[in-house]
Amino acid sequence: MTSISLPAFCLVALIGASGSGKTTFAHAHFRPGEVLSSDAFRLMVSGDENDQDATHDAFEALYFVARQRLKRGLLTVIDATNVQADARRRIVTLAKEFDVLPVALVLDLPEGVLTERHRARSDRTFGPHVIPQQVMQLRRSLGKLQAEGFRQVTVLHTPEEVETATFTRTR
Ligand code: GTP
Repeated sequence: MTSISLPAFCLVALIGASGSGKTTFAHAHFRPGEVLSSDAFRLMVSGDENDQDATHDAFEALYFVARQRLKRGLLTVIDATNVQADARRRIVTLAKEFDVLPVALVLDLPEGVLTERHRARSDRTFGPHVIPQQVMQLRRSLGKLQAEGFRQVTVLHTPEEVETATFTRTR
């Protein structure tokens, strides 16, 4: 069982391919207002959480809210795939701006699990080819997260590890 200790005030980046369970995991372990999900912001700005054309505007809105929270000293979780270095750089830069610890929580599940879940989903409009691409981007990223500026990195590798992970918050 993985026990994850988080500072009471930190900026958490969930990192994982589509279907790795980021949103499910976030809702199990964080309070509703703490989790800023790119899908939820896509839905808010465009009416469709799958509308990739709304991605830029959705992230503008997401980052606006993140800043409002960090300004108040509130723990914040960015629920997006974050498999690309550019996306993570933006998170680390934001953390530096507010002098808050950037934390990476990585859901690195086997590709077979992800494609199986993708097949079972009706809420995703993109094809299954997206998954291996994201998995590759994630695997290439794994060894670089500390160097990118994440001060705490936890990688969960199996559905069991994800399901049994526990959190404590320190002061
Ligand atoms: P994207 O929003 O597409 O990036 O996916 P995500 O990583 O946020 O995954 P999400 O939590 O939305 O879950 C994707 C699918 O996997 C859903 O159909 C969930 O029901 C399923 N799922 C998520 N977590 C678990 C888990 O721990 N066990 C099992 N069996 N299924 C899960």
